[in-house]
Amino acid sequence: MVGDKSNCGRENITRLQFTSKRASKSHTLNQIDTQSIRNRGYQIIRDFGVNVTEFEYVFDRISKGKLYHSERIGSICHQYSVEVDSENFSQQMRTGGFHTDFMFQATPPEYIALLCLETDPRHPFYGRNQIVPMSALLNRLKTGFDLSIEDILQHHLPYHFANGQHFSVPLLHKANGDFQFKFHQHLVADSLSQGLKKDRTTEAYLAQLHAAMIDVAEDVCLESGDLLIVSNYHALHRRSECSVSFDDKNNVWQSRKMASLRFNI
Ligand SMILES: [Fe+2]
Repeated sequence: MVGDKSNCGRENITRLQFTSKRASKSHTLNQIDTQSIRNRGYQIIRDFGVNVTEFEYVFDRISKGKLYHSERIGSICHQYSVEVDSENFSQQMRTGGFHTDFMFQATPPEYIALLCLETDPRHPFYGRNQIVPMSALLNRLKTGFDLSIEDILQHHLPYHFANGQHFSVPLLHKANGDFQFKFHQHLVADSLSQGLKKDRTTEAYLAQLHAAMIDVAEDVCLESGDLLIVSNYHALHRRSECSVSFDDKNNVWQSRKMASLRFNI
């Protein structure tokens, strides 16, 4: 573990060693620090490079083939940019809510790998990733609002979808003897606002969750070629606000570009 080159605070970083031929980078990344990711919620690997084929290959090796194929995305590796107008949360300029990826799947993916291909035009002030580690959040909910783990396990949150489906899911649940998160802030907030009658108790609870999350969230600034691995079970994540910039020469909008994939170990 080495010091951080950004000024974005406490990070968990590994720097990769490459072979001397830059054109044929041979990654020494054969495993990730699962214990550290369990405890802190994430690991950063600087200077991975922007080769998306290599990205997929390395995580195919690390996960021993347990890469997560998304029906919705239609692939294993998802490349996306922030856009001026998009329906997709990950492509919008506004701040994303803290969430778990694919929380409604029977078994959501255990880890998420995010590779920064191009930084935000206002990097490092815009386009950050923010991570809420489980232990820090549970501690803050207890000290700040006197919410015990038992309280959190019992307080279900509403998820209502346009197709009429309803789910009621607590922030925290127990799976295989271990606590895991399942949460999607925007979806809960939207469900509450659409409810026929006000649910003040859940609104107040959601405000407490948000305050505690903002308090303990760690900011991560990725340079182009940097890689972030996030626990999808023991951390929540979101993206900070992003910006766009118009390139007069080429008549195109420039914005943050990422590649992501999900995997189990
Ligand atoms: Fe996500």
